[in-house]
Amino acid sequence: MQDQLFNEELIKRYDVPVPRYTSYPTAPQFYSIDQSQYRRWVRLSNQDESPNPLSLYIHIPFCSTVCYYCACTKIITKNRKHAIPYVQNLLAEMRLLGSLFNEGRQVKQIHFGGGTPTFLQQEQMLQLITAMKEFFLFCPDQDGEYSIELDPRQVDVDDIDFLRTLGFNRLSLGVQDVDQRVQAAVNRIQPLTKTREILDAAQTYGFKSTNLDLIYGLPLQTLDSFSATLDKIIDLGPDRLSIFNYAHLPQRFKVQRQIKQSDLPSAQSKLDMLRMIIEKLCDAGYVFIGMDHFARPDDSLAKAQENGGLHRNFQGYSTYGNCDLIGMGMSSIGQVGGNYVQNHRQLKPYQNAITGNELPVARGFELKTDDQLRRTIIRELMCHFYLSTRSIERKFKVEFKRYFAPELQALRYMVDDGLIQLDDAEIRVQNAGRLLVRNICSVFDRYLDAPKIQQNYSSAI
Ligand SMILES: C[S@@+](CC[C@H](N)C(=O)[O-])C[C@H]1O[C@@H](n2cnc3c(N)ncnc32)[C@H](O)[C@@H]1O
Ligand code: SF4
Repeated sequence: MQDQLFNEELIKRYDVPVPRYTSYPTAPQFYSIDQSQYRRWVRLSNQDESPNPLSLYIHIPFCSTVCYYCACTKIITKNRKHAIPYVQNLLAEMRLLGSLFNEGRQVKQIHFGGGTPTFLQQEQMLQLITAMKEFFLFCPDQDGEYSIELDPRQVDVDDIDFLRTLGFNRLSLGVQDVDQRVQAAVNRIQPLTKTREILDAAQTYGFKSTNLDLIYGLPLQTLDSFSATLDKIIDLGPDRLSIFNYAHLPQRFKVQRQIKQSDLPSAQSKLDMLRMIIEKLCDAGYVFIGMDHFARPDDSLAKAQENGGLHRNFQGYSTYGNCDLIGMGMSSIGQVGGNYVQNHRQLKPYQNAITGNELPVARGFELKTDDQLRRTIIRELMCHFYLSTRSIERKFKVEFKRYFAPELQALRYMVDDGLIQLDDAEIRVQNAGRLLVRNICSVFDRYLDAPKIQQNYSSAI
């Protein structure tokens, strides 16, 4: 099974930059919109016969030190005072948004991401959660998923207890690598004992699930060093693991210029690491969910994939697909009534909009029927490695064979390579195609434009 999943020859052949499809169309396709557009989408979504429940994403951009590999939207500062006006802006944004959505629409999921959300003081977190509960209707605690990204270096056991009392029930911890030389090379010194302490606290205080983020392809990593890292990580026993392929785009992320090109592992070494990661995690009982994600078989992500209920959004894979997603904070992305909306990516314009009592939206995308059709196909393939072309025909009233004749033609070589099986009723991704599912999806992406791909996306593996 692992051998079939990892086919080195195929991976090398298909190693071109492709989007990660956390959305379709992808963020580079978004265009300028203003708040009236967003308000219209919300109104329309409220008018649905049974409006979708809600999922809230809150972006906290601050970090007190910089990690040299980082590609996230962040503001580096040690000065905690910077968070004070930001929290005030978030409260104002919540008030504005809360008044737009119909009162009966329940919040089923919240996610705090960053940057480092725990840059905020406990009182500030309490303020935000209290305001959220004032402006939105929450489902009973045990039915909802409330998650937060943590930098273990920035929290202690008391913070974990506090987050649980606020209602958080899932934690995601940044680790990246436990090897000290690698940690020094990326400016992120994080003792394993600290990570263990936070994970133990999560268990003590009754968090439902924990995720660890790792990155392969970082400077000074070798097959042996990352193998030793994984052994230690498996020993910690997280429910989920996100093992990202290091995206090195120094022309886009200035801080990455601190990383010496000559310290980066070779393409072959990264491939060896990938094979090792898959073998080790499968042997340790984790399920490969897709892209960079692994989960224990009893974790809700693995179960959702098994019963066809897995979705994909801007935070990666999700079990809450039927929600409208409301983004808050600079750069956050939402999805309302099927359309995308993104806030200003820079702090100043974000603040200015809120000060002017306006929704801080900058860009977005209104999906036409063709976009919706392609989004459904890409999501099904990304989440379930399977597409019933018949169900697409029923849902969108198209004849699949005719509508997608050029795409089906383009897929032929993937059939010949053993990535997919294709017949009149379905597309089935084979084991050898699972690691290349982005490439398969890209065939259905109407907006892919080769020269631009190079700038915007990292390689498939
Ligand atoms: C917003 S950050 C994580 C939360 C927290 N700030 C921390 O570092 O612990 C989300 C994750 O993105 C991943 N990441 C950041 N930059 C990356 C890059 N250039 N390539 C691949 N993964 C990256 C890291 O694994 C990181 O933990
Ligand atoms: S990885 Fe996390 S802590 Fe490091 S700079 Fe990026 S967002 Fe901040």
